[in-house]
Amino acid sequence: MIENSIFDKFEFPKDLPLERRQPFLDGTWKRFCSILSGDASNDALAELRKLLFGQEFMRLMQSLSQPVRQELGANMCKAVSAKQVEQFCLPEMLLRHKRFNSDEWSNLGATVEDGRLHIGGYQVMADWQAPLIKAIVDKCLEECRTPKPRVLELGWGLGLAGRQLAAAASEYVVVEAHKTVADQAQEELDSIGTGQVIHSLWQDAVVSKNHFDIIFFDCFWTTQQVDASKALDCVIDHHFPLLSDEGIFSYMLDNHSSHVEKLLRGGFRDVVCFLVEGVEAPADWWNIDQGWLGFIGRK
Ligand SMILES: C[S@@+](CC[C@H](N)C(=O)[O-])C[C@H]1O[C@@H](n2cnc3c(N)ncnc32)[C@H](O)[C@@H]1O
Repeated sequence: MIENSIFDKFEFPKDLPLERRQPFLDGTWKRFCSILSGDASNDALAELRKLLFGQEFMRLMQSLSQPVRQELGANMCKAVSAKQVEQFCLPEMLLRHKRFNSDEWSNLGATVEDGRLHIGGYQVMADWQAPLIKAIVDKCLEECRTPKPRVLELGWGLGLAGRQLAAAASEYVVVEAHKTVADQAQEELDSIGTGQVIHSLWQDAVVSKNHFDIIFFDCFWTTQQVDASKALDCVIDHHFPLLSDEGIFSYMLDNHSSHVEKLLRGGFRDVVCFLVEGVEAPADWWNIDQGWLGFIGRK
């Protein structure tokens, strides 16, 4: 049993539908634990840490699916003070409680080391994902009916998709919320002589409507701020009008939740959903038991 004052305020989800009980991602919790174990500086956090390492709690967490676990994480964040949340919680949890603007996001600081991009100390992209990104970009280029497409990318990250897309495009625009990352992207695009970077959240960026033949979306974390279950609906609704006729919108997920329906509801006519195999995650990443799925919707 969990007996703890922190958890007096902790709300467990009432119903956990079976379909949400997929094998979930252990790594997030491992990282959460290691952050707490390294830096707990007051009683509440020490108490929380004790609980997190308690077998009962870990067992409970491990029986839940990722969305449910994220919900638990968010509840846990509510249970500790805002300052503690800012100091110790993972951005994905933190961001669900605060609508970041791009300055605040940029202030978290970005570093690239050993092929990994960290923002605010949290890993948002890593180069072992290169085969995944390549598979999705290849599929987009294959599905796209325009030989030299006009491309809009959301989230430059390490530029893995950006480099390939910019090389294939007649026009390449990337919206990137983090200033340092955006500057690096512009520098790199300038050196190859093509591409424009807009430093903004995708939510606030002003781009042409009915224009892009490919939209490639990969900026989670600041996207799932309010309600992760509705995040993709907002993304889809926002980007649909920016596509040309027959233009395609694409993203990827590390679980098998059904997004085909979401895309159809969003107005897309053809939807392709495909499994990307052979992407090896390193040991310190979460277990992606069910592989990665790519989604493509055609307007
Ligand atoms: C997972 S990385 C993108 C990786 C990229 N696809 C690649 O191939 O390297 C996510 C990027 O999106 C950016 N980002 C996050 N939220 C954003 C938002 N709301 N608007 C624009 N960019 C955002 C982050 O700063 C980060 O650079």
